[in-house]
Amino acid sequence: MWTKDPLRTLRRLLGKGRLLTAPEELLLYSFDATTLRGAPLAAVMVESIEDIRRTVNFARERGIPITPRGSGTGLSGGSVPVEGGIVMSFERMNSIMKIDVENRFAVVQPGVVTSMLQEAAARHSLFYPPDPSSCNVSSIGGNVAENAGGLRCFKYGVTGHYVLGIEFMDCKGDLYRTGALSDDDSEPDLTPLLVGSEGSLGIFTRIALRLIKAPRKTATLSAYFDDTLKAFNGIESIIESGYVPSVLEYIDRKALSASSEHIGITCPEHTEALVLLEVDGDDAEVTKLASELQELLNGAAFQVNMATDDKGRGLLWQLRRGISPSLIRLSSGKIHEDVAVPRGSLYELVSAIREIESEYKLEIPMYGHAGDGNLHVVILYNAIDSISEKSATEASKDIFRATIGLGGTITGEHGIGSAKREYLPWQQSEAVISLAARVKRTLDPEGIFNPGKIFSN
Ligand code: LAC
Ligand code: ZN
Repeated sequence: MWTKDPLRTLRRLLGKGRLLTAPEELLLYSFDATTLRGAPLAAVMVESIEDIRRTVNFARERGIPITPRGSGTGLSGGSVPVEGGIVMSFERMNSIMKIDVENRFAVVQPGVVTSMLQEAAARHSLFYPPDPSSCNVSSIGGNVAENAGGLRCFKYGVTGHYVLGIEFMDCKGDLYRTGALSDDDSEPDLTPLLVGSEGSLGIFTRIALRLIKAPRKTATLSAYFDDTLKAFNGIESIIESGYVPSVLEYIDRKALSASSEHIGITCPEHTEALVLLEVDGDDAEVTKLASELQELLNGAAFQVNMATDDKGRGLLWQLRRGISPSLIRLSSGKIHEDVAVPRGSLYELVSAIREIESEYKLEIPMYGHAGDGNLHVVILYNAIDSISEKSATEASKDIFRATIGLGGTITGEHGIGSAKREYLPWQQSEAVISLAARVKRTLDPEGIFNPGKIFSN
């Protein structure tokens, strides 16, 4: 057992202004973008490796959990302190420590906001491709901890593909450097073990990220379909023809209207689905690709628009990035799933979810990264009606069953966190889950790092 008293020691160790304990302050560190909530005892605003070490040592000696937190934009409860304890916030460790233009990499502190890195890279004609839709607020540390996906995965891959090395602290307060951050850069490289570990194995203190040459030009196409099957056939024909757009997104009518109303733009009547595509590369290549794709979609889509200027493209991305937050406004309760199936089965999954939607009499807007087979399924319900809430949970389980039945996964990019932990055995064997638990115990025998998340203790 531990009480609030030992926090005096931590306050003394950390110095002024780094430890929050007032209820109104702690409230802000109790949730993420899900409806999950925790009750932290304290939040530590770390500013240095020494702050982290002191907090880790303090917590380990007392068996107090630590939940690392970036910006709190996660969708699986990864940064929610579900077992209380200390939230370790990285918002003040937000410096881009290095951009090596010649060797094309960056070294950042975990609290750097994703779009800040994208913009800093762009100033050197470099490009950081991972692009979670919350990139204007999400942090790199959180992106790496959840191995975040995003809009440009189809061509460029997920966050993990860009992580060259990680410096992290273990539960004893010792610092390790992996991959490109290690002194000799030799094997074994433990970087992949840490990517997607949800703050459960160690605490990131620095991250090295690969940058690539920035594309010279980008064009965005918006294709409007009056029928869902036509939209998925259009997506298939693009991929079958060998095109690799950087972005290939599906948005259904309900998701589209929530976001377009919010932004104040009007979409064509009879729209059942919008497919958003982006192509990037050299000027001539982009012009050629964009007009070929426009041609390919013309006919199947009843309208295909092209935007090449920042204003036109910006509006479309505002529309796309606004979907998740604007859906929150439609109902008091929302479960946001990110199921993924082999891409050829996406239409089948969407159809199965439509049946689940009518069976449970719920509204379930869908959208997502169609190029990756990654579908965002937003189950809206009435949070003050327990029957509606129960229906949403049951619908979500049926959606997982349908997804697994199609050879898919219950999370395409948002992570397991505490939101999906209980469903992990539905898709992972007991042997794999217990192996992961053994890895966790080896690195964190006391179980102080983000308990209740991806790894069972
Ligand atoms: C998106 C986030 C929710 O793609 O993953 O909008
Ligand atoms: Zn997404």
